[in-house]
Amino acid sequence: MEPSWLQELMAHPFLLLILLCMSLLLFQVIRLHQRRRWMIRALRLFPAPPAHWFYGHKEFYPVKEFEVYPELMEKYPCAVPLWVGPFTMFFSVHDPDYAKILLKRQEKVIQDRKESLKDKLKQDTTQKRCRDFLDILLSAKSENTKDFSEADLQAEVKTFMFAGHDTTSSAISWILYCLAKYPGHQKRCRDEIRELLGDGSSITWEHLSQMPYTTMCIKECLRLYAPVVNISRLLDKPITFPDGRSLPAGITVFINIWALHHNPDFWEDPQVFNPLRFSRENSEKIHPYAFIPFSAGLRNCIGQHFAIIECKVAVALTLLRFELAPDHSRPPQPVRQVVLKSKNGIHVFAKKVC
Ligand code: HEM
Repeated sequence: MEPSWLQELMAHPFLLLILLCMSLLLFQVIRLHQRRRWMIRALRLFPAPPAHWFYGHKEFYPVKEFEVYPELMEKYPCAVPLWVGPFTMFFSVHDPDYAKILLKRQEKVIQDRKESLKDKLKQDTTQKRCRDFLDILLSAKSENTKDFSEADLQAEVKTFMFAGHDTTSSAISWILYCLAKYPGHQKRCRDEIRELLGDGSSITWEHLSQMPYTTMCIKECLRLYAPVVNISRLLDKPITFPDGRSLPAGITVFINIWALHHNPDFWEDPQVFNPLRFSRENSEKIHPYAFIPFSAGLRNCIGQHFAIIECKVAVALTLLRFELAPDHSRPPQPVRQVVLKSKNGIHVFAKKVC
């Protein structure tokens, strides 16, 4: 009797393997294709620039994004879906009211969790007044070894080290660059710091709250060069924005901090370095979600006060000793990586002040 095709196939395991791989590949392609169609349907209310079916909006990523965004913001109000390849889409939000809806919705869940932890924390603080971050992590680990493993502990420490180091070093680099580029503002900061600190041999907590002009300059740098360019949220429930447009659960939304900070509807001359935007009178006029270098809502940066302190100390001690000037032959080229960097480095000259 002739062997059936199945028997033939079983006799060639290699062929069987290839067939299996091909089926899996086909299955994946169908799945991705269906997801793409689902996303296109979900995004029908959000117009976008024409995209290549395979490359998507490749021309906007990664370096050119900063150059093309002003035009994108003008043409596509509030948000714009940008495709990277055929199956990946960034729903990029640049409107503060959209950002508010997205960042506030998780507050209730976190608030509930915080309430339940409150009593426990009260108990802990009476036992030991000052617990640092590692103390808290270690006690969480020792109380609950099953849910909080050694690997979790390592991951938390890494998160802190990354979240606290790269961001702050990006911020300080861009702040020094801005001060170098705008010598008038640099001088005002130096005068303020000199008056406050003298030779700078001691700097205290009290000093840090008495540098209004330097603080405004730092904020203006964080606006122009936000170290974290965007943050993302995966929608677990459908969402409706203030203009009535909606998105279904399952879409990943990018809150584009850089674009929010440069949105001409909320900032006059957004490219201009103007620390007075953050003066006491003017601050009140800023939309609370138009300036969010540390994100907003309950899931915002837990290190923001520490970061601002680091920036103030670094700026104060640098300006007391050095006069900064930009290197015009090598202007920085901002590029979006995990944090905001410059493609060719950030170069400033430092001359000792007498
Ligand atoms: C200029 C410096 C900094 C900037 C611009 C910055 C910015 C941010 C932003 C935008 C987020 C929110 C991420 C999100 O919503 O998905 C965040 C979260 C976080 N930041 Fe910072 N950060 C800075 C410094 C620091 C420092 C110094 C620390 C720690 C010492 C820190 C620790 C964290 C942690 C642990 C989170 C995660 C919070 C969470 O997921 O609930 N950051 N940061």
